[in-house]
Amino acid sequence: MAVAGSSYQRLPVLLKTGGRVWQAWSAMGRAQISTAPASFSRQNAVGPMQIQKSGMATAGPQNLPKLPVPALAQTVSKFLRLAKPITSAGELDETARIAEEFLASEGAELQALLEQRAQKLPNWLTPWWLNAAYLEARTPLPIVTSPGVLFPKFDYFGTAEQTDFAAKVISAALQYLDNMINCRIPLDKAGNVPFDMSQYAFLYGTTRIPQEGKDRLRYGFQEKSLARHIVIARHGHFFNVPVFDEKGAPLSCSQIVEQINKFVLPQSESVNPHQIGIVSSDNRDDWARVYQRLKRNSGNEQSLEAIETALFVVCLDKPTTHGPDRTDGDEQARQSLHGGGSESNSGNRWFDKTLQFVIGHNGYSGLCYEHTPAEGPPVANIMDFICDQFTANSFTTKNAEAPFASVKKLEFSLGDEDKEAIRKASEKMDAAAGDVELKAYTFKPFGKNFPKSQKLSPDSFIQLAFQLAYYRMHHKHPPTYETATLRKFNEGRTDTIRLPNPESAAFVEAVVAGVENDKRLAELLRNAIEAHKQYSMEAMNGQAIDRHLLGLKMTALEKGLKLPKLFTGAAYKKMQHFTVSTSQVPTRNFLRMCFGPSASDCYGICYNPQEKELHMVVSAFFSCPETSAVKFVQMLEMSLLEMEVILTRGGARSKL
Ligand code: COA
Repeated sequence: MAVAGSSYQRLPVLLKTGGRVWQAWSAMGRAQISTAPASFSRQNAVGPMQIQKSGMATAGPQNLPKLPVPALAQTVSKFLRLAKPITSAGELDETARIAEEFLASEGAELQALLEQRAQKLPNWLTPWWLNAAYLEARTPLPIVTSPGVLFPKFDYFGTAEQTDFAAKVISAALQYLDNMINCRIPLDKAGNVPFDMSQYAFLYGTTRIPQEGKDRLRYGFQEKSLARHIVIARHGHFFNVPVFDEKGAPLSCSQIVEQINKFVLPQSESVNPHQIGIVSSDNRDDWARVYQRLKRNSGNEQSLEAIETALFVVCLDKPTTHGPDRTDGDEQARQSLHGGGSESNSGNRWFDKTLQFVIGHNGYSGLCYEHTPAEGPPVANIMDFICDQFTANSFTTKNAEAPFASVKKLEFSLGDEDKEAIRKASEKMDAAAGDVELKAYTFKPFGKNFPKSQKLSPDSFIQLAFQLAYYRMHHKHPPTYETATLRKFNEGRTDTIRLPNPESAAFVEAVVAGVENDKRLAELLRNAIEAHKQYSMEAMNGQAIDRHLLGLKMTALEKGLKLPKLFTGAAYKKMQHFTVSTSQVPTRNFLRMCFGPSASDCYGICYNPQEKELHMVVSAFFSCPETSAVKFVQMLEMSLLEMEVILTRGGARSKL
């Protein structure tokens, strides 16, 4: 089925001239991000997104509230409460003393300075967060920072069908872009509360540029005009592939297939012996030095330019195999997260690119995305949309009629130092890919329906299961990170929903001790779930502790003040070591997301609770003898089933 002509009618204008619609879309992104270049004049902007009654996001101001600064005493009191289950009695006493001192001394000054910043900026947190969480981090992007997303298995096999499938993914991704440009993306909400939509504008055409000390984002919306090409990678070769004609009409699927067959496949039959893309998986400073050297050659510079401005990258991967220790889903997670190592497909990637579709040879496909510009949900919405187009078989079938640029192979002229950098980066990638254990898992006995039937929050129920599984396995409470969205605020990104808390600790200890009856356990479980839900709501309302404490710390650092003892004490340090990092990314289709653990002895869990099943990928590192993703999944399954029994047998909450 052809894409409705009307949806593309405005593209020719905007593509040719960088016209009004594109500018509006660009402007909404620019106007919303505090890190926009100084040269940008807000007066020129059409303005950020506007919400219409239809529930669609359109260009125009969204007028969302500003992120508040929580009260200092409230944060300190929550900090002490959350420190309790993971500190010894002595550490807790010492922390309480330090906290009291902090409130009576430096705390008030830092709080006042932070409140001043909050008055001045559209969002006091987001620019700091982008730097602290992403741009200043020197660690490699794949595995820990950049998540992988897994499409459902599609029915295709071999190069010809892989090409056909890739063309459909490209076509659907371009339809989504068109929806974005024409403001047809449904507004994201929590209940009736609208979310900041600006992250959508940051996804296409965006690349993270490596720089020593601190990277920068090169946003697609800041380019003079929208790119008309994507980049296709195959066997470690890169190609600039046009996807719009000169008048701005999108190429049909068969035209894209023709381009791939005619130009990409014949020029990429043999594996590139020098796969420069793999260096983008290296430590950011190392990659930055190689990148700078590459740029000094004008041919390389043109190739880099084509990759950086491309709307997205599509990786046509070579066949993969796996032994009995992995399922197809586990292998799919590996390919999406890191490409399986240099002998597999890690060299067929450009990890700096925000959107990188990974198209396997055997029906398995997904996406690897660079996390800096956006959280999972906008990306997952693109993936959901693409799945919907496959269900509806709705792709562009009308051929573009105007001429379009020809496919161009992107050449890189590499010296010995660059080849050495490729060798070193390959070695590091192989070690990292070999170390990360990924278990793709679906829990089938129930989904959100069971906790809902018990009048409990499904998310909190699942989080309690993570706590119980971990405690069973490791006999201690794990400092746990769960992403809370702050998108109800202008330019909002995330805060942290923390566990354990005293209620969750009481529940898991009671279950493992095995002395309480089901009625008492059900009571403890309900208390724990409600305490978690309460904190989740506080977090979404900007009242969690993690980003507030970060803000106070950043204030001290920026003003050259002495770092308060609160930030150097045992409790704070323990609380920053997230033994379990989790994120919920819900979707309509069967999509799973994955990311690596935050440190060597930790777990990463990305989960997608659907009505009747819970999908997730659990990660750990093989090099840590204590952790195991496979065992964790077993413990989790046991915990979920046991919690079902506890609630069913233990009955509803009795009136206290
Ligand atoms: N009784 C019955 N039903 C309940 C309930 C209760 N006590 N509490 C919640 N529910 C229902 C909700 O109405 C909702 O219904 P729906 O399935 O029809 O939508 C469903 O259960 C899910 O609610 P809940 O499990 O409580 O979670 P949530 O959807 O509100 O999500 C967070 C909570 C914290 C995960 C979410 O707000 C958030 O911040 N997500 C972050 C996403 C993100 O940015 N991820 C980053 C990835 S990089």
